[in-house]
Amino acid sequence: MSANLSVVVLAAGKGTRMKSRLPKVLQPLAGRPLLSHVLTSVAALKPRETVVVIGHGADEVRAAFSGTSPHTAGLSFALQMPQHGTGHATAVGLENVNDSEVCLIVTGDAPLVKSATLAKLVALVNDKTFALLTCNVADPTGYGRIVRNAAGEVIKIVEHKDALQANDQATLAICEMNTAIMAAPTAWLRGALSRLTPNNAQGELLLTDVIAMATVDGLRIATTQPTGETEIAGVNDKVQLAALECAFQHEQAVALMLAGVTLADPHRIDVRGALTCGSDVSIDVNCVFEGTVALGDNVSIGANCVIKNATIAANAVIHPMSHIEGASVGEGALIGPFARLRPGAVLGADVHIGNFVEVKNSTFGIGSKANHLAYLGDATLGERVNIGAGAITANYDGANKHKTVIEDDVHIGSNCVLVAPITIAAGGTVGGGSTLTKNTERGVLTVARTKAASIANWKRPKKAPKA
Ligand code: UD1
Ligand code: MG
Repeated sequence: MSANLSVVVLAAGKGTRMKSRLPKVLQPLAGRPLLSHVLTSVAALKPRETVVVIGHGADEVRAAFSGTSPHTAGLSFALQMPQHGTGHATAVGLENVNDSEVCLIVTGDAPLVKSATLAKLVALVNDKTFALLTCNVADPTGYGRIVRNAAGEVIKIVEHKDALQANDQATLAICEMNTAIMAAPTAWLRGALSRLTPNNAQGELLLTDVIAMATVDGLRIATTQPTGETEIAGVNDKVQLAALECAFQHEQAVALMLAGVTLADPHRIDVRGALTCGSDVSIDVNCVFEGTVALGDNVSIGANCVIKNATIAANAVIHPMSHIEGASVGEGALIGPFARLRPGAVLGADVHIGNFVEVKNSTFGIGSKANHLAYLGDATLGERVNIGAGAITANYDGANKHKTVIEDDVHIGSNCVLVAPITIAAGGTVGGGSTLTKNTERGVLTVARTKAASIANWKRPKKAPKA
């Protein structure tokens, strides 16, 4: 924990341009809220306190971060109601910050800011220095402009709207923009915020106005810049959200490739969580990884797979169009195409799961196979078991779930219904089309179907001639 740093995150704004019922800071980027990305970056600085200023959708935002996660240590919320601008929001947040601390201010809608950039900014602050993150951009429309004097020192920030209203072309032509990310000595900042007035085009208390005050008070304004524009890009509408998603996914794809992963097309992979890969992993196009996914050495993932919270061991092959969630796949297993592994599917080494096979809360021993059209739910399979096409476990009686046990070396024929609870003992064979409701003995053949009856000389009905 940094004894002298606290953070205020501005997140009370409405996000009108999102045109969404969901508060802006809860809009997902790579599967998690914008605010969560910001909090993760901030957490690396180990601040004593991180105060999120909330207003619009306050209850929803608070609820979304009520659980424990790496970035919720030292997290608190301050309610800004109504919202009188970024200066007002910061003042509300400062209620939880100590005068002796450095205060870092970030916005909840700029998700990709890097911890290193924030650390660099904070390091510039002392009693006599205010630090500002600025960025030179090609098109500064809408942003606050950084105004410097002849000596190159920052003297103020002018908001786009105010420059427009004053028809101040010289200011509008400035391409160094305010990122709204800054750090200051708290005692001074608190005093400055109390002196803000709403004399501007927005009629609000603007955080940006404290810059001019700092120069008057004799503080030095130090500036630093991020590594690129995406770091400070704010999200105001769904177009910007999609653009940042794309930039973020590309960054992750590049990191995977640099770590040795083969991607068929780095523009067609989405990682919404943490994906770790062993050596020589290859991933075909259009795969989505969610939550925590670990792929072992030499794993191959076919096109169009969705894999969530799963572990795939070395040498396993996941064929195209497979959907895997909450499952563990053993070494050398072959899965899909069109396989569905649901939570609790635990597959041993060399297991084969083929097309249109669904496995839920079931364990497969080494080398067991279900190659076509089957459902295994709440089942425990031994080793070398073979499940025929169309076989299912009837695990649900309409009220409760029951277990099926299929021991080593059992063969289940096609189109069988195993009505749980039931055990098929080792080495047994179940004839195709059987519906079993009772346990079977070791090594026996069990057939449960009506005997075929043939009727000789039977005539097919004929169509009546048209009148
Ligand atoms: C702000 C800056 C602008 C900068 C731009 C960078 C000000 C006055 N302007 O403009 O110089 O170039 O960011 O993206 O600071 N918020 C509150 N309470 C409020 C108002 C806003 O918490 O009363 C929060 C918003 O939720 C948002 C952040 O503050 O997360 C910034 O507000 P926004 O309205 O997006 O400011 P910009 O117009 O983007
Ligand atoms: Mg904004």
